[in-house]
Amino acid sequence: MKQKVRTAVFPVGGLGTRFLPATKAMPKEMLPVVDKPLIQYALEEAQAAGIENFVFVTGRGKTVIEDHFDHSYELEDTLRRRGKEKALEQIDAFVPPAGRVAYTRQMHPLGLGHAVACAAGLVGREPFAVLLADDLILSRTPCLKQMVDAYEEVGGNIVAAMEVAREDTQRYGIITTTDGVAAVAAGELVSVAGLVEKPAPDASPSRLAVIGRYILQPEVFDRLAETVPGAGGEIQLTDALAAMIGRSPFHALAFEGERFDCGDKAGFLCANLAFALARKDIGPAVAEFVGQRLMSS
Ligand code: G1P
Repeated sequence: MKQKVRTAVFPVGGLGTRFLPATKAMPKEMLPVVDKPLIQYALEEAQAAGIENFVFVTGRGKTVIEDHFDHSYELEDTLRRRGKEKALEQIDAFVPPAGRVAYTRQMHPLGLGHAVACAAGLVGREPFAVLLADDLILSRTPCLKQMVDAYEEVGGNIVAAMEVAREDTQRYGIITTTDGVAAVAAGELVSVAGLVEKPAPDASPSRLAVIGRYILQPEVFDRLAETVPGAGGEIQLTDALAAMIGRSPFHALAFEGERFDCGDKAGFLCANLAFALARKDIGPAVAEFVGQRLMSS
């Protein structure tokens, strides 16, 4: 019996400079895809995977995220008096129970590894998940649920993975598998032999990239404490993970689903389109508009 993954960590301290001016006064995690902020997709994905505790590693200017995961008394009261039951349900259903959400500030932007290390005391010595809200995944089974199911089989550490174009390896943590496989099919779980953060295309050991979903053993906090600044001068989660290989099982899951890089303007717009088209209420109208626009261009 594997120890249950109960806690998820959401690093949300980033400045969102790739999305200025939209992110001047608004956290990038609050950018909506259709009608829901990115961070709510991540939290709901964690809930669907059975996560009970939610830890946000925030920074200055992010308090609106705390408000989003709290009850909004005035709004709820107004909606109740107006009999707007559906709207009430929409603002209430995802709010975790009291005492299940914690916020801590990263204070210095020292990298993703440092952000995760900031959550150490709140997570404790048990396995936990990390979700990067920028990576939005449209799938039949939520990506983290797929990973938790795999974790129940193999335990240890698991990262989500997908193949990327060779010219894009410098944007990701890149995986080497133990049997050196070059391609992975959706749903496949492969054993990880090596990890390197953002290698140049010609130096990259493969095209298999880590996507922002992780299930990690608490030993990662010990490795993070020893990790020195790596790629980009930041404390990289990937470097701490690389130091764990060989000590406990380490797998990559080629998840089923379509991933959108919502930290990128084009990726964000594609996500909006894909999620809108998948919706029963607005999908047909959006499809008609897109079809006509493409025909006339
Ligand atoms: C982070 C990780 C990288 C991973 C990527 C997934 O990079 O450092 O290993 O592949 O997320 O989106 P970032 O996008 O924060 O530069």
